[in-house]
Amino acid sequence: MKIIKVKDQLEGAKVGLDILKEQIAAGAQTFGLATGSTPVEFYNQIVNSDLDFSDKTSINLDEYVGLDGSDEQSYRYFMSQHLFNEKPFKENFLPDGKAADLEAEAKHYDAIIDAHPIDFQILGIGHNGHIGFNEPGTPFDSTTHVVGLTESTINANARYFECEADVPKKAVSMGIASIMKAKTIVLMAWGEGKSEAIQAMVEGDITESMPASILQKHDDVIVIVDEAAAKLL
Ligand code: GLP
Repeated sequence: MKIIKVKDQLEGAKVGLDILKEQIAAGAQTFGLATGSTPVEFYNQIVNSDLDFSDKTSINLDEYVGLDGSDEQSYRYFMSQHLFNEKPFKENFLPDGKAADLEAEAKHYDAIIDAHPIDFQILGIGHNGHIGFNEPGTPFDSTTHVVGLTESTINANARYFECEADVPKKAVSMGIASIMKAKTIVLMAWGEGKSEAIQAMVEGDITESMPASILQKHDDVIVIVDEAAAKLL
């Protein structure tokens, strides 16, 4: 793992953009994208750059069950607002949270990932070490699956909804094995609230109770952290 410590989120997003530019220059075609507040400034930097994605593919990590792309809380809506409307891609894949058969949708999503190997994956991290929506205890060999969200994740995500009861209780998430197949992974974390998860991910045991710890086994992971998130390293 390569750790890059930066002053703040803005500097971190700029470092992320430089890495992205290098990857594109080296031929990256398929981009694994994440939602949450962490990558928002990174997406801003992309929007304000001269990068062109019109012949590129994106594959998002996850989507809430029960929401479709017109729902303002859906991850497809989030991606459109923060990136896709300004930077059109050739194609944008996200799991279909409204699929009638979610198990079939998970299989279909794995087929999409297999057909479009991810060159560059952007990740945030949950306070409990989740990546995508792979909560603690998710097997390291998991592929795309339907996830029951933990209480702590529902609480953390409630800020985006009118009330906690509106937060979906399930999501479809790329699995840990799928994430590990990405050629290059850039994980970003900002703020003291992430410092314990970052320490456990970088220095702790590799264990399914800390999903992000598996990244220690990947041979091209770059962690961009601000001073507060890096505080315990
Ligand atoms: C969500 C997303 C993750 C994200 C994490 C952290 O649950 N599914 O992809 O990394 O929470 O969110 P934030 O970036 O808002 O701290």
